[in-house]
Amino acid sequence: MSYKQTRVWIVDKNKEIDKNVECIKEAGLWIKNNEVVALPTETVYGLGANARSNKAVAKIFEAKGRPSDNPLIVHIAKIEQLNKIVKEIPETARKLMEAFWPGPLTIIFQNAGQVAEKVTAGLPTVAIRMPDHPVALALLEAADVPVAAPSANLSGKPSPTTAQHVLADLNGRIAGIVDGGPTGVGLESTVIDCTVHPPMIYRPGGVTKEEIEAVIGEVCLDQALVGGSEVPKSPGLKYTHYAPEGDLVLVEDVHIIQALVNEEKKKGKKVGVLTTEERKGRYEADVVLTCGRRQKLATVATQLYSVLRQFDATNVDVIFSETFPKEGVGEAVMNRLEKAAGGRVIRRDA
Ligand code: TXA
Ligand code: MG
Repeated sequence: MSYKQTRVWIVDKNKEIDKNVECIKEAGLWIKNNEVVALPTETVYGLGANARSNKAVAKIFEAKGRPSDNPLIVHIAKIEQLNKIVKEIPETARKLMEAFWPGPLTIIFQNAGQVAEKVTAGLPTVAIRMPDHPVALALLEAADVPVAAPSANLSGKPSPTTAQHVLADLNGRIAGIVDGGPTGVGLESTVIDCTVHPPMIYRPGGVTKEEIEAVIGEVCLDQALVGGSEVPKSPGLKYTHYAPEGDLVLVEDVHIIQALVNEEKKKGKKVGVLTTEERKGRYEADVVLTCGRRQKLATVATQLYSVLRQFDATNVDVIFSETFPKEGVGEAVMNRLEKAAGGRVIRRDA
C-alpha cells in the first residue's frame, strides 16, 4: 500500500492532552477505521492499528516488511480492556501491572481469542502493555479499540525514537503519524511471560530484571538471551534487527579501540567509534559519536538507536563500540548492541 502523503499531526506532550483534543480525535478515528498510524510511546515510536481487524493489522506487516510469524504487542489505555483479551490474569501479572503499568513492561497472557489472528501470529498467547505516554494513552482512548503496535521502523532498521526516524523509514507507506517529540526510554519494553512458572523474561527492556524481582521474586531469563544456542522464545528475537550499515564490532577493552581503528584505517577503511561523553576526547577516527554517559546508563539507552541511525548516514565501513555492564538497563543496552553487532565481539581475554 502506498500513500501520496503520510499525514503528520504535531502534538506538544507537555500541554494538557486528552482524547478530545482535535488531532488526537482525528488520528484515533483513523485507527478505529483500520488505517495505520504511528504514535509516540515512552520507549520508541509504535505503528498502531486496530487489533480487532486482520485487515488493519495486515497493513502493519506490509508497511514494515515484517515476517508474518512475528506477533505484535497489543496496547491498551485501561485495565478493563485487558479482561476481554486474556483468558486469566495470573497473580504475578497482577502484581507487575500494579507496579509498572503504565510503563515499559509487556506481559504475555493466555489468549482469549478476541484479537485478530494476525496479531498473535496464531499463538495461544497474547502480549499486552499499557504505555506511559500522555499522547499514546489519549490516542488509545480516542481509538476506543485495543491497538496492535510494533516499533515503527522498517524491519531490519533500528527502532525509531523520533518522528523523523519514522518518516525516514515509512513516509508514504503509512497513513499517518502523531509527532509527540522524542521518546524517553529509547529502548523497547521488557517482555515477560507470566503464563509460565517462574515467569520468564523474553526481551530485556525498560523495566529491569532487578526491578521485577523486587515485586514478584525470582524470574528467569530466556537462555537464548545469554548466548545459548537455543531459539529465542520470543519470535521477534530470532531475526537480526537493528543492524547498522557499517560492520559493528563490540570491544570489551576500551584501551585497544584506538589500535583497532588505526589498523582498519591502514586498510583504507572509513572507521567510526561509538563512545560515551566520558571518553569521547580519546579517539581519533573518521566519525566519533557519543551515546550518553557511561555513569548514567539510562542516557545510553535513550540515545542508542538514534546514534546507530546517525552512523548509517556517514557511510562508515566499520564501527568499533565500547561495551557496558549488563546490570539494570545495561542488560537491554547490551542485548540491542549485541544484536546489532551480529555477534562480533572482541573479548577482553581474547
Ligand atoms: O516498547 C515496545 O514494546 C514497542 C512500543 C511500540 O510499544 N513495541 C515493540 O514491538 O517493540 P515489536 O513488535 O518491535 O516487538 C514485540 C516483541 C517481538 O519480539 C515479538 O516476537 C514479541 O514481542 N511478542 C509479541 N507477542 C508475543 C507472544 N505472544 N509470545 C512471545 N513473544 C511475543
Ligand atoms: Mg521492533
